[in-house]
Amino acid sequence: MNFTGIEKRFADNVIANYSRHPLCVARGAGSRVWDTEGRSYLDLFPGWGVAGLGHCHPAVVGAIREQAEKLLHVANHYYTEEQGAFAEAIVSRAPGFKVYFCNSGAEANEGAIKLARLSRQPKYGIIAMEHSFHGRTMGAISATGQPEYRRGFTPTVPGFAFATMNDLASVKALVDDETCAVMLEPVQGEGGVIPAARAFLEGLRRLCDERGMALIFDEVQTAPCRLGEWFGYQRYGVTPDIITAAKAIAGGMPMAAMLARPETADFLKPGTHASTFGGHSLGCAAGAAAFRAMAEEDVIGNVRALGAWLDEKLAAIAGRPGIKEVRRAGFMVGIELEFPGAGVVADCRDNGVLVNCTHGTVLRMLPALNIARADLEEGLGVLEAAIGRAANQAQ
Ligand SMILES: Cc1ncc(COP(=O)(O)O)c(C=O)c1O
Repeated sequence: MNFTGIEKRFADNVIANYSRHPLCVARGAGSRVWDTEGRSYLDLFPGWGVAGLGHCHPAVVGAIREQAEKLLHVANHYYTEEQGAFAEAIVSRAPGFKVYFCNSGAEANEGAIKLARLSRQPKYGIIAMEHSFHGRTMGAISATGQPEYRRGFTPTVPGFAFATMNDLASVKALVDDETCAVMLEPVQGEGGVIPAARAFLEGLRRLCDERGMALIFDEVQTAPCRLGEWFGYQRYGVTPDIITAAKAIAGGMPMAAMLARPETADFLKPGTHASTFGGHSLGCAAGAAAFRAMAEEDVIGNVRALGAWLDEKLAAIAGRPGIKEVRRAGFMVGIELEFPGAGVVADCRDNGVLVNCTHGTVLRMLPALNIARADLEEGLGVLEAAIGRAANQAQ
């Protein structure tokens, strides 16, 4: 079917809650995708950060194929080898934590919110950050520090308050006897690639310890490996009580996890929380394969090495007209423009490179963790040229 036919099928049958680019992706391999017309693109925002190992990594595909012949899913009142093995793989990279599996970042955050309240009851207040993003379910939008995501859905879940990222005094000012947790992304992703300062996270850790509050890190984007460590908290040397992870943890399968240290995790007793699909055998097999592949390919080494190289490249771009600021944390890159970025995204796409734009003006890349330097260089060249054209027009 040609693109016009596919577009009509969507118009007739799919709820239009996404604004979609005029591109139907048919196939992917590594950092490349191909559309239904056979055109190839370099994907610098693969699957909204899900394809951490690139598209269709052979080890992940092989594990899925093998597992699909054996078992897809069983109820969580039985054991499966796959779930235990994937949990062990995660915990080996986040020592001292235990894992609860679910299916999406928002769902992992729902679990974190519930666990923070359950483990600190009767306290219920949660301090989150302005400009944060935690997902689209009711709990997650209640924790998201951007009122536009709550518009039309009020009343949201009570008990959330918003502090300013990297301003410890603003957090302290909101703490009261009802506060059970502080929740944040170590690097705000959707908010425009805004990293937390180490001293801020250290201060939050101390504050949470003093007040018996849970520190929750939403690592849906920052883990695994995206900040040059298996989990983002390791980059900061600040260990939270609860971590949420999703996106790239299972090599492209819809998997998510909430990790908690035992003294908090042990409150999640049978009957308190559950998910039918959580810990799905196919996703766990894929996840274990993805974790093995990330170690074997030393993607952390790649993120660190190319990160340093990226800084040089980005410093050159930062001086170009029309650019307000360039921000990088590991393999999270944000280029803030002085004008709307939608035209740059379209121009890049026309020239075979896929990037994202958040908040209207921040061009965003979450490259695959194993991307080759030549691919990154090609992508940045196209991006820089597109920014140049847009900047000329904006003048
Ligand atoms: C930091 C963060 N948390 C939560 C979510 C929500 O994840 P999901 O869309 O899988 O529910 C996202 C999605 O982009 C995210 O970036």
